[in-house]
Amino acid sequence: MSKTIRHLTGITTSGTPHIGNYVGAIRPAIAASRDAGSESFYFLADYHALIKAQDPVRIQRSTLEIAATWLACGLDPDRVTFYRQSDIVEIPELTWLLTCVTGKGLLNRAHAYKAAVDVNTEAGEDADAGINAGLYMYPVLMAADILMFRAHKVPVGRDQVQHIEIARDIAARFNHVYGGSFRAITGRDEDPLVLPDAVIDDNVATLPGLDGRKMSKSYDNVIPLFASAKDLKKLIAGIVTDSREPGEAKETEGSNVFQLYQAFASTEETAAMRQAFADGIGWGDAKQKLFERIDAELSEARERYNELMARPGDIEDALRAGAVKARKLSAPLIAELRQSVGLRDLRQAPTEAGKAKGGKAAMPVFKQYREDDGRFYFKLADADGRLLLQSRGFESPREAGQMIARLKQEGALALRDGEGHALKLGEDAVGRLPDEALTIEDVVAALATMAAEG
Ligand code: TRP
Repeated sequence: MSKTIRHLTGITTSGTPHIGNYVGAIRPAIAASRDAGSESFYFLADYHALIKAQDPVRIQRSTLEIAATWLACGLDPDRVTFYRQSDIVEIPELTWLLTCVTGKGLLNRAHAYKAAVDVNTEAGEDADAGINAGLYMYPVLMAADILMFRAHKVPVGRDQVQHIEIARDIAARFNHVYGGSFRAITGRDEDPLVLPDAVIDDNVATLPGLDGRKMSKSYDNVIPLFASAKDLKKLIAGIVTDSREPGEAKETEGSNVFQLYQAFASTEETAAMRQAFADGIGWGDAKQKLFERIDAELSEARERYNELMARPGDIEDALRAGAVKARKLSAPLIAELRQSVGLRDLRQAPTEAGKAKGGKAAMPVFKQYREDDGRFYFKLADADGRLLLQSRGFESPREAGQMIARLKQEGALALRDGEGHALKLGEDAVGRLPDEALTIEDVVAALATMAAEG
């Protein structure tokens, strides 16, 4: 029996969806949710929204708008699990369990936090000025979202890939520390948490906004997804173009009008528009065609959206029903995880936590040595002495030492599989897995363990 692949996606509820969100995320996700053989989880990441928006009215409004958008665009709550993050009480609980196995250093290196620190540093401010701890904890909360439902695949934009890697590290670390205990408690021969993979769709071009830069709320150049037909027309009329006159041939390459058209048109329609550009269609006519094309795709959904927005109670009911469905999975898992970490009924007979002896998990170790070939090597062994990584030869002890330092610093995030059983750190060869039975996850878990313990 093959296992159903489970997809999971979160949408932060801090804004109003625009057509860039629709083309880049909503439309492909809804199409994927209709695939047989996959199981989809979609949720409104309202806890995440609190990190950047501390405006209660905006949070509530955005949650309503985004829920209505997904439903209006055809997400079928009977087919998928559609819920609101803050309805799943197990998520903050899991966040804490994960927080306590997460190396602080791992979070120091998370892009979103680091970018905020860099802005402060450049402005000559204190490194953490104005940064809330929510931003710092963002990757752990996101890991909890994913791990709570044992998702296999997480479709995300490139900017989110590091978060999935962090979720994998945290899961590997949790499995390493509590896997034995979990197996003892549950009697099932499996890890408590599933390591997720990011799915990045590079075919989805980012859509240009009204001014030609990437469509983004921060550039104030967006077309709201469900703008009225009248507003849509007005916005499209305002798209920046070059000054070529009707009758002059126009470039499709780099044209916002053309790219937006293409995002909504069939292959034939796109080819016809390309021809029209070559034949010198006027910008006014091209924009009219663009308006008609977008309006044709969105007008029905817009009507459904307006109906849904007028009945917030129905959306609330749909989300609550989704939460009931989701919690059928999260509640039993959190109960097992609580027991696995030792949050237990005191009457229960103590169950030994597999590897953890003397209250603290023993540490993996690096050992450096020299071979007869005159080169310098190291090995990584886990706490039980099992060999996890065999390095390549280095010219000097210093070089070998530097590679060890890099593995400790960035290895949990940046270690990659190479050819055969080779392991790489970025582009640099590190060594190999010494044993067929080992995977890169075993090494990552050991590195994450070392990072977390300092
Ligand atoms: N951080 C994601 C974003 O801004 C939203 C999100 C929160 C998410 N939790 C998630 C996405 C879990 C995927 C899985 O786009």
